[in-house]
Amino acid sequence: AKLGVLVSGSGSNLQALLDACARADYPAEVALVVSNVPTAFALERARTAGVAARALDHKTFGARADFEKALGDALEAAGVEWVCLAGFMRLLGADFLGRFPGRVLNIHPSLLPAFPGLHAQRQALDRGVKVAGCTVHFVDPGMDTGPIIAQAAVPVLSGDDEAALSARILAAEHRLYPLAVKLAVTGAVRLEGGRAVSSVGPS
Ligand code: GRF
Repeated sequence: AKLGVLVSGSGSNLQALLDACARADYPAEVALVVSNVPTAFALERARTAGVAARALDHKTFGARADFEKALGDALEAAGVEWVCLAGFMRLLGADFLGRFPGRVLNIHPSLLPAFPGLHAQRQALDRGVKVAGCTVHFVDPGMDTGPIIAQAAVPVLSGDDEAALSARILAAEHRLYPLAVKLAVTGAVRLEGGRAVSSVGPS
């Protein structure tokens, strides 16, 4: 399966996907990386891995719809079948999502539906939860609201600050995202009637 990975920042989750795709038995390859932030280190990671990468700065587009049209066109031109958001800091509208129906995934650093949106790790610390984690979900037009594919939990330890908790969650993200992408592209988990349904084992 051909993946398009959308990024805005460091791209450590992109790196986890690139590393997974380098394994002979992994059922996907990264066809294109697009960053809406031209200076994102993620673009560097793509180029180092020999993967096509381009910046598409949303600020240079008049309207959100124009940006999303250009984004969808670039992904389609690269033959992308599945779109993986990896630290991509823009919401995507229904027109874009309709071009890749049931084939857009996101990773979020909380156990959704708790703590959607920005600074999820800080929200978790402020709330005093003892278990945190990350979620991979199908993307719908809402903010971190789509059907859940897979989750991983990590403990919140006494003395954790935002950096320490974020690092622990990020390590779990790097394991979870390649696993969840594999489940999705192989059809082991698919979007059906607004839910993520599993065709292997209990759901
Ligand atoms: C990750 O925590 C991801 O869950 C969130 O933004 C962060 C991106 O990190 N959406 P990276 O760019 O993959 O290193």
